[in-house]
Amino acid sequence: MTLLDVGNLWVKFPTRQGMFEAVRGVSFSLKKERLGIVGESGSGKSMTGRAILRLIRKPGIVEADRIALEGTDLMRLTEIQMRQVRGEQISMVMQDPKFSLNPVMTIGAQIMEAYLLHAKASRSEARAKAVEMLEAVSIRDPERVMRAYPHEMSGGMGQRIMIAMMLIPNPQILIADEPTSALDVSVQRQVLDIMDRLVTDRGMGLIFISHDLNLVAEFCDRVLIMYAGRIVEVCDADKLHAAQHPYTRGLLNSLPRLDQPRARLEVLQRDAAWAEAPSVSGRV
Ligand SMILES: Nc1ncnc2c1ncn2[C@@H]1O[C@H](COP(=O)(O)OP(=O)(O)OP(=O)(O)O)[C@@H](O)[C@H]1O
Ligand SMILES: [Mg+2]
Repeated sequence: MTLLDVGNLWVKFPTRQGMFEAVRGVSFSLKKERLGIVGESGSGKSMTGRAILRLIRKPGIVEADRIALEGTDLMRLTEIQMRQVRGEQISMVMQDPKFSLNPVMTIGAQIMEAYLLHAKASRSEARAKAVEMLEAVSIRDPERVMRAYPHEMSGGMGQRIMIAMMLIPNPQILIADEPTSALDVSVQRQVLDIMDRLVTDRGMGLIFISHDLNLVAEFCDRVLIMYAGRIVEVCDADKLHAAQHPYTRGLLNSLPRLDQPRARLEVLQRDAAWAEAPSVSGRV
């Protein structure tokens, strides 16, 4: 069953040099699956995720034929209705989690507040839930973290705290923008396991944005490859290493490999035609 159906999404920014098109006619759909979005820096991955939740800052412009959440077109909702969608149905873990936390509130107070917005519970129940959520994302000393402020957290802790907060409302869809890139390998594994369980056990849909092709090939079900604001290829994650598009091949070939050390990394050869070819919608 399709959870989310995005049709012909554009994100544009007016600049002094004219309109800059960060996302150019992207179409895809999301089921109860782990959908990866990969592509080099600046290819439009974050803007695609943010546009779905109407989180593009002014003067940015979002246009789309549809952004349908189980049949409801989010493009037609008011800002107040959109706030409800963001709070309850679709959550996003931002690429820079620290900017999303309130700097003058303790971590504990923020998680409890997020929980109390969604559940009828006493403060002590909310407190117990907050500690439980921190434990669920492998925060070792939750009691200390509850009393701490965001600036006292490392980048990786901030990221896990954001994931804990985003999971409190039990969303149907989680958009995770580079959720594990600041984490060391063992914590990364734990966070991936948490997200994996949400997809498998609760039937959540996950959009997993990453520049790490190996990680996405291993973790996701399907992958969208973006280049210059377009989707240039859609493939099953386990077939990513056999991807056809020359840009995808270039990305794969420029990955360093431990088993096949190379004296020099290949430089990605670009072709202007990739950016102009119509966006593929793949098997959507
Ligand atoms: N406010 C803005 N004004 C103009 N251009 C912008 C603005 N915000 C983003 N962009 C541009 O939009 C393009 C897409 O940005 P986006 O953040 O989606 O890239 P990304 O694929 O997430 O990259 P990264 O891997 O570095 O996170 C970039 O070229 C960026 O410079
Ligand atoms: Mg990004």
